[in-house]
Amino acid sequence: MSTILIKNAEIITMNPDGDIFTGDLRIEGDRITAMGSELIAAPGEYVIDAAHRTIIPGFIQTHIHLCQTLFRGKGDDLELMDWLKQRIWPLEASHDEESLYYSAMLGIGELIQSGTTTIVDMETVHHTDYAFQAIAESGIRALSGKVMMDKGDEVPFPLQEKTSESLQQSVDLLEKWHGHDGGRIQYAFSPRFVISCTEELLREVQQLSQRYNVKVHTHASENRGEIEIVQAETGMRNIVYLDHLGLANERLILAHCIWLDEEEKRIIHERGVHVSHCPGSNLKLASGIAETPDLLGKGISVSLGADGAPCNNNLDMFNEMRLAALIQKPAHGPTTMNAHAVFRMATIGGARAVGMEHEIGSLEVGKKADLAILDLNNFHVYPSFDVDPISRIVYSATRADVETTIIGGRIVMENRIMKTIDKAI
Ligand code: GUN
Ligand code: FE
Repeated sequence: MSTILIKNAEIITMNPDGDIFTGDLRIEGDRITAMGSELIAAPGEYVIDAAHRTIIPGFIQTHIHLCQTLFRGKGDDLELMDWLKQRIWPLEASHDEESLYYSAMLGIGELIQSGTTTIVDMETVHHTDYAFQAIAESGIRALSGKVMMDKGDEVPFPLQEKTSESLQQSVDLLEKWHGHDGGRIQYAFSPRFVISCTEELLREVQQLSQRYNVKVHTHASENRGEIEIVQAETGMRNIVYLDHLGLANERLILAHCIWLDEEEKRIIHERGVHVSHCPGSNLKLASGIAETPDLLGKGISVSLGADGAPCNNNLDMFNEMRLAALIQKPAHGPTTMNAHAVFRMATIGGARAVGMEHEIGSLEVGKKADLAILDLNNFHVYPSFDVDPISRIVYSATRADVETTIIGGRIVMENRIMKTIDKAI
């Protein structure tokens, strides 16, 4: 079993007491086994001297599309439905096995380089096995699934699928990948959004997610045009419809949730549904400003995601955290969505969304060793150490400050050099 000792770092634990201290952290196998001051290196132990460095829990992004990384810069200045029809769906339809693998690898590289250690990912209709292959080789912790789209005339032919095939292929991928590498990889059923899915498919997904106890990951109430279509087709508000099908429960992760009424917020809260807030994407696609302070104030589980790379041109959690805070300030004042609130969404909030709050999201003895080591001694970072370290990170750090990333005790990037898991320590 490999053991790693990280010494002399400022450690932002995000434990329930919010402890931040300067000291050492030991990793044995995939877990943190000791934290404190002056831990002594054992013979043969791999030691990282992290003096003047800051350790944070790895970021958890709860809404990503690795399959879209290669489409960056395509379709700027479009709203959601036009962007999907004119750009994203034809591009997703054009993927082959190789392009999907490299799109996923490129995205994962960017995520690991910016300190993200866990993702909830939605793929395209075909070739998802190759995205899982990239996830497996890279070492990133992921919940992923093939997108399901069995409805809609405007979907390009290669993406159109039969309900039974969509379900069968999803179950085949689940049986192959769910639980892979000691549970690092999990399957998540990924119906695209209500508009793309028949009621039959959504009902089956609900049954399957219950049977296998896996997550369901979908988009909801992102755009006003989208919710009007849902209302016209189902006679219901989007979240009311999902609830009507039995999908609104603690296994459900909903990306965006910008346009909710009070009844929908109540359903989300009472059923324990998780919201993934994607501020960069919401701005880029002119979708709107989510009512995140209100959702958090109501006790709803809200975490963060960058969405696909074409939505904001990067997959960088530093960017999402900063935007999540800034977009609320004009309406709610400077402190409502403060640095601590967004840092919580990016770490322990994401862990709650994926049902792993006892495993990841904070640095505590017994938890998985998923963390990033930052070098904040750069000119662009607020130079004073009198400043709250979380505020320094949220408002001035960038992905260039991430020096080392460790996932499940494996060093997947060290001194900004990436390693696939067969090379990781
Ligand atoms: N809604 C349905 N599909 C998508 C997608 O690929 N991206 C975003 N942002 N919203 C969607
Ligand atoms: Fe999305």
